[in-house]
Amino acid sequence: MARYLVTGGAGYVGSHVVLALLDRGDEVVVLDNLSTGHRAAVAPGAAFVKADLGSAKDVAEVFAGWRFDAVFHLAALSLVGESMRQPLHYVRANVNNSVGLAEAAVKAGVLRFVFSSTAAIFGVPRDIPIAEDAPAIPVNPYGESKLMVEKALGWAQAAHGLRSACLRYFNAAGADPGGRAGEDHDPETHLIPRTIMGALGRTTPVSVFGTDYDTPDGTAMRDYVHVADLAAAHLAVLPRLEEGSVAYNLGNGAGHSVFEVIAAIERVSGQKVPHHIGPRREGDPPVLVASSARIKAETQWRPVHDRLDDIVRTAWDWHVAHPEGYGDRVG
Ligand SMILES: NC(=O)c1ccc[n+]([C@@H]2O[C@H](COP(=O)([O-])OP(=O)(O)OC[C@H]3O[C@@H](n4cnc5c(N)ncnc54)[C@H](O)[C@@H]3O)[C@@H](O)[C@H]2O)c1
Repeated sequence: MARYLVTGGAGYVGSHVVLALLDRGDEVVVLDNLSTGHRAAVAPGAAFVKADLGSAKDVAEVFAGWRFDAVFHLAALSLVGESMRQPLHYVRANVNNSVGLAEAAVKAGVLRFVFSSTAAIFGVPRDIPIAEDAPAIPVNPYGESKLMVEKALGWAQAAHGLRSACLRYFNAAGADPGGRAGEDHDPETHLIPRTIMGALGRTTPVSVFGTDYDTPDGTAMRDYVHVADLAAAHLAVLPRLEEGSVAYNLGNGAGHSVFEVIAAIERVSGQKVPHHIGPRREGDPPVLVASSARIKAETQWRPVHDRLDDIVRTAWDWHVAHPEGYGDRVG
């Protein structure tokens, strides 16, 4: 049986990675400070350590306490707008913590490292779909911080033999098809949960930012990849690490507009979804769609929940079943 460390395993994507590992019989240790995650999101079969990655002592203790086959590093700050206001905070949280974790892994002889990167490293791309070798020119400190970590990991392979997989997620969406985990962010900035919460009357109606883009219906298009498919990709890349470090763009390969997402939520819920039309947001690219050709060519990974309605349905079901999310909000 293999044992894995999952940082950020109490968060949205991390909790689904934990489920995927437990489902195939692996042992999992979650390290999370619960700053944006939820204790209840961690599957009961995983060991849980409440610790901050900024504490070198706590991180060293985790590596001293268990022997890991690989590290899945998902813990990060990931709000683009917040990163614009607090760039230094984001660099410290995302870069320093990742580098500290990688150092601890190397010291403990754990030389396989899967890192949650992002489409935001590409900024406003020239060519769609976005391939791995597209120019990486981030337009916000969040994307920059992830790119810095990717580069540091690249150097660490040469010097320390640390083999890494940088997975650039596009828009993670949906929930565990078995209903065991879902998305609970506060504030919620992602389109699908935000629209669903508006439809359920739990928040104000969602705003559509810009209807004058050069897209078929004028709204911005994104690549929504089911969170269970994302989780599966983490497992699929492990064998590939035997040959060295890799970087993969991870999406469905299909773009959906804001209006298409709203229409899908209306189909799934059987009700009209209230929304406002607002101006474009500064720095929002019109279209972000991944080419996932490389990961498909080099691993066994294939998205299985790739229909927008399936993605939306799992998210809808989770929100309906969890009116308070994980139910641990203070105040
Ligand atoms: N959700 C997306 O669509 C998306 C897209 C691209 C990339 N990503 C990346 O995927 C990862 C997971 O995203 P998510 O949406 O699940 O976010 P999330 O906020 O739900 O999860 C992050 C988890 O990390 C924990 N954490 C944060 N800082 C920590 C620290 N210093 N020490 C210990 N734990 C800490 C949080 O408590 C939380 O449980 C992030 O690295 C994010 O940048 C997410």
